[in-house]
Amino acid sequence: MSDPNTQPDGSPDQSPAEFITTSYEAHPDQVGRVLLLYSGGLDTSVMLHWIQAKYNAEVVALTVNLGQPKEDFDVVKGKAIDLGALACEVVDAREEFAEHYVLPAIKANAQYGGGYPLFTALGRPLIAKLAVEYARKHGCDTIAHGCTGKGNDQVRIEATVATLAPELKVIAPVRNWRMGRQEEIEYCREHGIPVAGGTEAPPYSIDDNMWGRSSEGKSIEDLNSAPEDDVFQLVTPPERAPDQAEEIELDFEQGRPVALNGEHLGLVELLERLTDLGCKHGVGIVDHIEDRIVGLKVRDIYEVPAATIVLAAHKELEKLVCTSHQNLFKPQLDGQWAFLAYAGLWWEPLREDLDAYMENVNKQVTGKIAIKLYKGNATVIRRSSPNAVYDQDLAGFSESGGLFSQQASPGFIELWSLQSRMAYRVRNR
Ligand code: ARG
Repeated sequence: MSDPNTQPDGSPDQSPAEFITTSYEAHPDQVGRVLLLYSGGLDTSVMLHWIQAKYNAEVVALTVNLGQPKEDFDVVKGKAIDLGALACEVVDAREEFAEHYVLPAIKANAQYGGGYPLFTALGRPLIAKLAVEYARKHGCDTIAHGCTGKGNDQVRIEATVATLAPELKVIAPVRNWRMGRQEEIEYCREHGIPVAGGTEAPPYSIDDNMWGRSSEGKSIEDLNSAPEDDVFQLVTPPERAPDQAEEIELDFEQGRPVALNGEHLGLVELLERLTDLGCKHGVGIVDHIEDRIVGLKVRDIYEVPAATIVLAAHKELEKLVCTSHQNLFKPQLDGQWAFLAYAGLWWEPLREDLDAYMENVNKQVTGKIAIKLYKGNATVIRRSSPNAVYDQDLAGFSESGGLFSQQASPGFIELWSLQSRMAYRVRNR
């Protein structure tokens, strides 16, 4: 078939073999059967065709269901087969994602940069782990993904593959080819590839799963502009949310959200219900300036209704059951956990170390949190826990009452302030 060192349009490949510097990038001669991470979108559809043409290789497609709303996986699969895939595996990984990626993130109150609950960052290592499994199952030598060279996702996927499967190689055609959207559409025309949703450019680059949705690019890049209305495909803009507030109650057992308004639910269903509730009330819109690991600063618009509610509730309950020392210390480790997840180092042993700490703290995080949803806000209004480090009799804030010994306070102040007073005197001698 075509010369492996040229693009389909005849231009030279930007990654000829002699420029391969890593242990895991595929030399064109090594590419025989490719496991392609396939979304059904334009990039990966062009890739499905292009890989067969460029490498004379076979392609097995893999599509992973992480609970992205409104996705028709039968359509995606049909498209892959039409484009010549040997097979298209559609894997429902919602339970695994919720249990082993989202739940640890809840226990670690995981947010990056103050507002991003990491849904994409949590999804990528699982997607890449499944790519490894299915590549092995189908006898593939190479994994292909559709990430660009400017984002975090390439790091998360390739670091995972290189860690879990040193025998497998990676190709990332979108990183090397010179096709922009127009050229890709042209490529589709030439090769009879149907372009989903027509040839109108979708205004934004979207990624989503059960824990949230992101939009990037186009008008969002203008930091001086408020996001256009058409960004919000999930959450109702707060000003259009119902005038009636809604109260909900979440039950936690050892850090895990287990029930909504008294009804016990599995984690996937619970998150789906919270997504609907948050969307209705305009909860979870985050306009975020973010430091990518590859050095760029970008703006993301996030719609994260379920994460906003769950994390607010979890943090509140944790604060109630932990001591002041734990409450001061844990956010530092939470931040470290979030950074590792964001930065594509999911398999780093430090995360396991941190998880052990998170698990231990979360043994106490059992109780109920009530939240009021109203026009973009999720406000904690009630909290209770059998493990609360809170004793109404002891604290008894009436002037006279309570078991708290107010007589003991002056002695405490005498000693508590001792060093500070001495130092003050020394410095003002
Ligand atoms: N900024 C987020 C992150 O780095 C979201 C990225 C979304 N990915 C995408 N391919 N659109 O995790």
